[in-house]
Amino acid sequence: MNDFTRAARWWRDETIYQIYPRSFCDRSGDGVGDLAGIRAHLPYLRELGVDALWLSPIFVSPMRDFGYDIADYRAIDPLFGTMADFDRLLEEAHGCGLKLLLDLVPNHTSDQHPWFKASRSSRDDPRRDWYIWKDPVRGSDGSHHPPNNWISNFGGSAWEWDEATGQYYYHAFLASQPDLNWRNPDVRAAMFDVMRFWLDKGVDGFRVDVIWHLIKDDQFRDNPPNPAYSPDEPEIHRTLQVHSADQPEIHRVIAQMREVMHEYDERLLIGEIYLPLERLMHYYGEEGTGVHLPFNFQLIQCPWRAERVAEIVDEYEAALPPGGWPNWVLSNHDQPRIAARTGERQAAIAAMLLLTLRGTPTIYYGDELAIADVAIPPDRVQDPWARQEPGTSFNRDRARTPMQWSAEPHAGFSVVEPWLPLTDDWPDRNVAAQRGRPGSLLSLYTALLRLRRSHAVLRTGAYRRIEAGEDIFAYERGEGADRLAILLNFAAQPRTASLPDAYRGGAILLSSDPARSGAAEGPFRLGADEGVIVAPAGGNR
Ligand code: GLC
Repeated sequence: MNDFTRAARWWRDETIYQIYPRSFCDRSGDGVGDLAGIRAHLPYLRELGVDALWLSPIFVSPMRDFGYDIADYRAIDPLFGTMADFDRLLEEAHGCGLKLLLDLVPNHTSDQHPWFKASRSSRDDPRRDWYIWKDPVRGSDGSHHPPNNWISNFGGSAWEWDEATGQYYYHAFLASQPDLNWRNPDVRAAMFDVMRFWLDKGVDGFRVDVIWHLIKDDQFRDNPPNPAYSPDEPEIHRTLQVHSADQPEIHRVIAQMREVMHEYDERLLIGEIYLPLERLMHYYGEEGTGVHLPFNFQLIQCPWRAERVAEIVDEYEAALPPGGWPNWVLSNHDQPRIAARTGERQAAIAAMLLLTLRGTPTIYYGDELAIADVAIPPDRVQDPWARQEPGTSFNRDRARTPMQWSAEPHAGFSVVEPWLPLTDDWPDRNVAAQRGRPGSLLSLYTALLRLRRSHAVLRTGAYRRIEAGEDIFAYERGEGADRLAILLNFAAQPRTASLPDAYRGGAILLSSDPARSGAAEGPFRLGADEGVIVAPAGGNR
């Protein structure tokens, strides 16, 4: 029996909630969030109705890239607490029915990791080949140059010169984040043991950082230029990453990761992958050899128009391999927040979309309050990418600002000034103010999550597009006789939707407009920025 034929897996039914631990809640009083802060808010997460928490990295790190530069994979950074704090968080999360996913960062370590320190200590060190070292290209004057044209994702050459040993090492991100050599079986074995360490503790799975980067071209050929590049884009887009990422051998590595996961029951492997749709789909692998969920970022960068969003959903559904389970993401710690892209009123439509499409949704903390991007004063910029490429890239700090809990000082996030600023309207845009308030986005999220629980069809029912009219994205979720229609008005003006006959006179299960009442009539008048979920007449209440 392979994975595809096994009974439904929990992640098909459940909702993931991403926590950026620095920004969720600070209990130690240093302005940076921590594990105790997350633990304190488990009741909130239960009440909201999410099922699995994914924590961005919490491991020992010099924090040059805020935890995505790990110096010890098996220890908690003191900034976030201790291993005892972690164990307690895991136990209490499980105790209240929440799963816990960790961020696995296997592509690179910190330059402070003992592996790298050993590797750079001498060309003969047994760990030399754990990283990617290359001889320089020599100029006629004896000068040294990088071995190829690969560019760091954060700008500049991806090669760092090491004077002491006379070679370059490769780093896809910061120079302080050297890439591991995944062609080396010892590296694989070491990282698989890291996975086992956390799986043995009982974590429910991993989100694997930049998984498509792990294997690079074995001949280290130059990447071709990108003909569409414009200089206001981040420098990484100057070339096409044909040879530096997404190599065929990656799928064997992922299959091996899955073998590790198979040693345990029901654990989830998610891959962070930014690739065009047809490339992305390969990461499902065959017969359960790929990641369970290759993160689907199709909605993260698209224009917010009904037509386009509908097209994206249709294309994605059509491209899925047999047995591949979909997933949807609107925001994360690297991208502009959804409310910044759509505006406050459309944030409700985004929520309805995310939580009613077929596939596992991942909610980014704070999106349930429509926290938008926060302007960061130049002297408070933290993001190393923004520092390295000022002016060209999105400053990721804008999407990493603290969760806003209450009207207490510092929004109840901390007792001191937080590491990043709050939204200007935090005294009203916070959990305490929005909880239970009719018409608040938080109430809508809570209601949607409740509806997902009570209506199996929203979790596993098939998706079918309905033609409902301009500016409206409408679809049906159905399983046998169980059906629901979802109508989303992407316009800031009212629109009339044509409604399939079966739904005429049906009950409106949920609307983003708390004033909405009555049954669904056809033609159906949707308010500006309104979304509704409708049951067919006589069924599915
Ligand atoms: C991933 C992370 C990002 C980090 C990068 C390097 O893209 O999401 O935050 O900077 O990997 O680890």
